[in-house]
Amino acid sequence: MAAIAATPGVSAGSGATPARPSPAQCKRARDLLNQRLAECIDLQMQCKQAHWNVRGANFIALHELFDDINGAVEDYVDLVAERVVQLGGVAEGTLGSVVAGTSLPPYPPCGSEDTRHLQALATALSTFGSGVRQGIDEMTRLDDAASADILTEVLRGIDKWLWFVEAHLPARAASASA
Ligand SMILES: [Fe+2]
Repeated sequence: MAAIAATPGVSAGSGATPARPSPAQCKRARDLLNQRLAECIDLQMQCKQAHWNVRGANFIALHELFDDINGAVEDYVDLVAERVVQLGGVAEGTLGSVVAGTSLPPYPPCGSEDTRHLQALATALSTFGSGVRQGIDEMTRLDDAASADILTEVLRGIDKWLWFVEAHLPARAASASA
């Protein structure tokens, strides 16, 4: 299979024939990235849901942690969306696209209880992380190193935030969210 150039339209080497992604490869990469985009936007909204509603003895720590995660996830949204456009596609970031494209579980009714918000966010982070990990494998199979690298950057952050969230949970509750 011909290698996908780091940026479409840019030669991958010094040979006379520039290596370019095939239209089918680009479409597959765009479709996959748009699905991750829908989930990433869903995740960001779930972070805010937790941020607004959490209460309890650790209120300030959790209120701020959930907002820190929201800020990081907003950056991931931008990275993924702009990669779709770099590949010649349209970043599908409308509410309708998110509802149609996300595979994250809906945010459960958590009231204000801190442990339930932590479990809900751990589940969302874990589910999103699994999809990103699969996306890295798929981009590697497509020889799209730049998209794989972007998703790896996202996954590195998601793994860190999952660690932060689960560190606030009792061991049994943390393992239940995995
Ligand atoms: Fe706030």
